[in-house]
Amino acid sequence: MKPADKVTVPSLRARKGVGPKIAMVTAYDATLARLLDEGGADILLIGDSLGMVVQGHGNTLAVTVDDICYHGRAVARAARRAHLVGDMPFMSFQVSPEKALENAGAMLKHGGFEAVKLEGGLVVAEHVHRIVQAGIPVMGHVGLLPQSVHAMGGFRVQGKGEDAAASVLADAKALEQAGAYSIVLEGLPAPVAQRITEAVGIPTIGIGAGPHCDGQVLVCYDFLGMYRDVQPKFVKRYAELGDLVIDATRRYVGEVQAGTFPGVAHSFGMGKAHSTGEPTGAKPVVASEPPAYGPTED
Ligand code: KIV
Repeated sequence: MKPADKVTVPSLRARKGVGPKIAMVTAYDATLARLLDEGGADILLIGDSLGMVVQGHGNTLAVTVDDICYHGRAVARAARRAHLVGDMPFMSFQVSPEKALENAGAMLKHGGFEAVKLEGGLVVAEHVHRIVQAGIPVMGHVGLLPQSVHAMGGFRVQGKGEDAAASVLADAKALEQAGAYSIVLEGLPAPVAQRITEAVGIPTIGIGAGPHCDGQVLVCYDFLGMYRDVQPKFVKRYAELGDLVIDATRRYVGEVQAGTFPGVAHSFGMGKAHSTGEPTGAKPVVASEPPAYGPTED
């Protein structure tokens, strides 16, 4: 990959208003990250949604900085082109700007991230400012805030009504002012997301916020049809991998029970007695060479 192809904070900012629109997806492991990266996703977000789709909780509150870093390292080993963002989990930044900076720094040191994302607007503007001042890019997140699920009374669309819309707009402007390089707009009426997108000079990335944002984000297990407990209106399934997994597992189970797997094609012969053994053919997911990017001349 040419250095110029690597997605970076400046290259994302340069797409504001001119496109192409930014396509972000979540990723949690090396195998899927490699495929999502090859598919052209611009940003891989190691989201605290992993608390729900990977760990099986009903919300994101149990996720820790260590959890996010563990999954971040796996994704960072596999990704080549995509920009890598780590989600700051519940209580890793809310307590104080100092605590937020400490944890953001730890996430870049130990998680392989190139930026962090955190939820909230005006009330975390100072936190964002401190992190940005330390040279750590911050993606904001306003509208529906999953870490405030109990305060919101569930996962509910925000910004309905003039006062609520004005308040989300003020949040977005405060984040821009604090130095955020982009903002996730979650669970907002499309006209409100459009108004915010037109009012700020940094890219907006929508989820359940209509078509007018500068980019979109979906949870990978949602758009691949693997997380099927709920299907929110804003999710479009681009594949039904859940059905494929169930069908493949049924066929595997059937063949194991019938004794038809493994057959000759999937079994090893004896070979020579002194042989060190033939290679199994197993390959690592992650290529041994490091990502082919680095400082550029411009
Ligand atoms: O945790 C997450 O996956 C997110 C996205 C849905 C924006 O925050």
